[in-house]
Amino acid sequence: MSVPWLRGFFLWLLAAPHAVLALDMWWNLGLQGYEVWRNPQLYIIGTQPICTQVEGLSPAQIKICQHYQDHMPSVSRGAQMGIRECQWQFRHRRWNCSTVDDSSVFGPVLEIPSREAAFINAISAAGVVHTVARSCRDGELSTCGCSRRPRPKGLHRDWIWGGCGDNSEYGYRFAEGFIDAREREKNHPRHSNGLARTLMNVHNNEAGRRAVFMHSKVACKCHGVSGSCSLKTCWNQLPSFREVGDRLKDKYDGATEVKFNRAGTRLVQADKKYNRPTKEDLLYLSLSPDYCLANDKTGSMGTTGRFCNKTSPGMDGCTLMCCGRGYNTYRTVVQERCQCKFHWCCYVKCKTCQREVDVHTCK
Ligand SMILES: *[C@@H]1O[C@H](CO)[C@@H](O)[C@H](O)[C@H]1NC(C)=O
Ligand SMILES: *[C@@H]1O[C@H](CO)[C@@H](O)[C@H](O)[C@H]1NC(C)=O
Repeated sequence: MSVPWLRGFFLWLLAAPHAVLALDMWWNLGLQGYEVWRNPQLYIIGTQPICTQVEGLSPAQIKICQHYQDHMPSVSRGAQMGIRECQWQFRHRRWNCSTVDDSSVFGPVLEIPSREAAFINAISAAGVVHTVARSCRDGELSTCGCSRRPRPKGLHRDWIWGGCGDNSEYGYRFAEGFIDAREREKNHPRHSNGLARTLMNVHNNEAGRRAVFMHSKVACKCHGVSGSCSLKTCWNQLPSFREVGDRLKDKYDGATEVKFNRAGTRLVQADKKYNRPTKEDLLYLSLSPDYCLANDKTGSMGTTGRFCNKTSPGMDGCTLMCCGRGYNTYRTVVQERCQCKFHWCCYVKCKTCQREVDVHTCK
């Protein structure tokens, strides 16, 4: 499993006393996770403190968890947000970031050090930076508050730099400490791909953090006589998580294949003719499987039964999605609002129309 700390949170959430075992309900699980961490005394099983109940945490992570228990609801929400965004970004792809009904969260498919594994590492790290930075701003954490980023150079000199901004510096540092802790641990059980996988994860975690941290913006609010906007107060603001997801999806599309150098100490590009990857780029060690057929061993779920678009030339088109196996067509009825009329004043009244549409699913 490439993101064991994530798995830990899921195991924990699933084992929580009133967890709903519906795996597509990420949002609910996130909320439950939040409750669990807010009221830890309610949920301590036996005499074990909460951080040792979260399976999958390395010894160093357990220490951080114990020390920063009030951060854990944010970590949990960050992980959920990363997964939901992954599912959105990959909804039209053969591998659609689906989760499986067991403790591995994504199934064995991410044991392969592929682009997909790179994306998952990055987006979940980004999620944690995002939620922790926001929680600092909202005063939910004891060890951080508003952002202390210095005033940006180009900011108009009449404008005030002083609103309470998202603490992306703190979010970045905390996510680095917590997520990379396990990769840096000396006697940490090695990944199946050994040191190369560790280096790959560390790099991709950093790329994910940067996708949030380096793209924070300046947001401003107007003041002044009757909204004249002669005065402005400005602060540091996180990018929306959709922007983060879009950015990392671009990085996924342009990810760089790497391998060990001769000495086996560093990762280098497999093919030197491309540009050298930066710290914001994603790295992978192995080509991805085609994800066409279900395969218990690799964990690929296959695309049988997936919806496809008959006219699209892209990945969501039936040709590519179904890997040439063909598709079945069903006629179904969809209901939609139609013949909407505006009534004075002020509401819109619509009828419900039924329309037949063809849907296609892969054989
Ligand atoms: C993702 O793919 C799996 C396996 O092919 C499928 O069961 C699931 O319904 C898909 N999820 C979405 C949201 O399309
Ligand atoms: C199918 O793909 C075509 C071309 O990309 C697009 O115009 C159309 O909206 C898609 N249909 C659906 C139902 O998504």
